[in-house]
Amino acid sequence: MEMADCKTRRLVVDSGRPDASLIRAAGVALREGGLVAFPTETVYGLGANALDARAVAGIYRAKGRPADNPLIVHIDSPRVLNRYIDQIPPVVWRLAARFWPGPLTLVLRGGGVFPPEVTGGLDTVAVRVPAHPVALALIRAAGVPVAAPSANASGRPSPTTAAHVLDDLAGRIALVLDGGPSGLGVESTVLDLSGDGPVILRPGGAIRQDLEEVLGPVEVDPAVNGNAVAGSRPRSPGMKYTHYAPRAPLVLFEGHDPGRVAAGILADAGRLAADGRRVGIFAYSETAPLYDGKGYSVVVAGNRHEPDSVAALLYASLRRFDRLGVDVILAEGIAPDGLGMAVMNRLRRAAGGRVVTV
Ligand code: TXA
Ligand code: MG
Repeated sequence: MEMADCKTRRLVVDSGRPDASLIRAAGVALREGGLVAFPTETVYGLGANALDARAVAGIYRAKGRPADNPLIVHIDSPRVLNRYIDQIPPVVWRLAARFWPGPLTLVLRGGGVFPPEVTGGLDTVAVRVPAHPVALALIRAAGVPVAAPSANASGRPSPTTAAHVLDDLAGRIALVLDGGPSGLGVESTVLDLSGDGPVILRPGGAIRQDLEEVLGPVEVDPAVNGNAVAGSRPRSPGMKYTHYAPRAPLVLFEGHDPGRVAAGILADAGRLAADGRRVGIFAYSETAPLYDGKGYSVVVAGNRHEPDSVAALLYASLRRFDRLGVDVILAEGIAPDGLGMAVMNRLRRAAGGRVVTV
């Protein structure tokens, strides 16, 4: 069904009160091996029955995803965790009470029921309970745990609307449930509990300070800030790939002083434009007017002092540059605090090493 060219159906669902018969049909499709894209509170996911190796293999084909990058298993309640994980450290229940349903993914040992297609052959499995009525209803209707990466083509910005999913995956999946835009806009925080202490493998919707209220000090994997130790194997396989990238190369400008960041961008933009290149600028509301009237394609991604607003617009803004047809994107960074840590991680990954510190 999801193999070569199928017609992808898009069904609009009311996020507040998802239509029961529609969700039931999507749940059956999932359980029986189909691929269904669905909204979560973070980004859209591409779901398959996590207990069905063939169905899960279809996810990798549809996305063009490297086979060693494992998937997150979505369940509808912490109560079912016991069914699938045989070693649950007590701290899991404290985290679940505070953060589930919500944007926190836990990496745990003892998920032997899941096929290697889900775990990437690791001896751990990543699990979360999403906080979205459509996602929860779908998992319940499927009656199985649902493996779901973000529903983008591998390497592309994650989808925050059904239209983004169709841009990347139309013809490759059976169905997308359209529940409107994802609210948060960045993926879940991936927290590794399989080792000696908790380690953030990917910053996301659950912020470090909040995790530390429950856990005490939480380490951040060096790969998160692009400081992977040369030759070492990243603990989260996803961290080694360039990711979240729009089609044009993106250069990230980082610095404490927004005025200097803007000046650095303006200088480079001027040079590039003089070379005949179409320049895109990824900016925030206070600095955006500085780029006006010069022929640049400026996309305003929220307010730098409100990282939630930037997260919510991040991926849609990156995708907009594709439609604007720019040759290069110069992007302003924000402070990596709170949700800003997730935003900066994604921008650094999208930049793939092209970072200018001003
Ligand atoms: O918000 C989200 O987490 C979204 C929605 C759909 O739930 N999902 C998502 O999945 O972002 P994906 O596949 O795009 O990212 C999963 C990340 C990858 O970086 C992967 O390497 C990591 O989780 N991961 C999965 N299983 C792991 C494991 N057993 N050990 C370490 N990292 C793991
Ligand atoms: Mg992803």
